[in-house]
Amino acid sequence: MTKPLSPIDTAKFVAAKRACDYVESGMRVGLGTGSTAAWLVRSLGEMVRDDGLDIVGVPTSTRTAELARQVGIKVTTLDEAKWLDVTIDGADEFDAELNLIKGGGGALLQEKIVATASDQMIVIADKTKQVETLGAFPLPVEVVPFGWQTTKALIEETLASLDVLGDSSTIRMNGDAPFVTDEGNYILDLHLGRIGNARQFGIVINQIPGVVENGLFIDICDVVVIGHGDGRVEVKDITKGTTEESVIEFVDTENLFSDLSD
Ligand code: 5RP
Repeated sequence: MTKPLSPIDTAKFVAAKRACDYVESGMRVGLGTGSTAAWLVRSLGEMVRDDGLDIVGVPTSTRTAELARQVGIKVTTLDEAKWLDVTIDGADEFDAELNLIKGGGGALLQEKIVATASDQMIVIADKTKQVETLGAFPLPVEVVPFGWQTTKALIEETLASLDVLGDSSTIRMNGDAPFVTDEGNYILDLHLGRIGNARQFGIVINQIPGVVENGLFIDICDVVVIGHGDGRVEVKDITKGTTEESVIEFVDTENLFSDLSD
């Protein structure tokens, strides 16, 4: 027996389902990380299995690679694929220009590399991720473990000169030890409240020795697919300047809902 989907899961699922329309046989597809991206991977897996969709996926984390293999999607590395047709991923926040905060799941580095190496990046998100100004969600910054406390202090000192409200950061933990990314680094979450100039912020933060990458995705996302709990989806395309709305009909007895592992 499957439980009915909650409104938030429905929103994530319909966004993911609608984003599948951007995927065609023969494509190399960047596969994002997180709970919304997991819906996408499951939906694509279903299309591979039932409709003969023939794609190669480039996962943005070991978690996503595992799920993609489980659902029957062929997986390769970015070095093998070199350039991708499309990347579809979740986000922690997006604004009206489709600038993003990502990295809530700790995969921002691979996510940024993969999205940047794609003709198109599509973000799938529920409505709660839409913000006027980025920064309420703590900004993840990936740092090398060596001297991370010094890097943290330098970041906090730098915050004083930037257009942000907060000036503290916390090391992301996994139980008693720092959370370690797929690249063997740590994550500092920056509590900024509001980022006045995200473009400038990203450039300045990346200059600090020890910082590998930050979770601001500026001018990378082309389309955002926003899901709602009642099955509606909005598609905002920044290049075309269009917003379209539709409704995704589904029955949650689909196979997809019986093999949920997270
Ligand atoms: C992982 C990410 C995720 O895409 C982001 O955290 C959104 O996750 P979810 O879909 O679970 O809300 O950036 O690093």
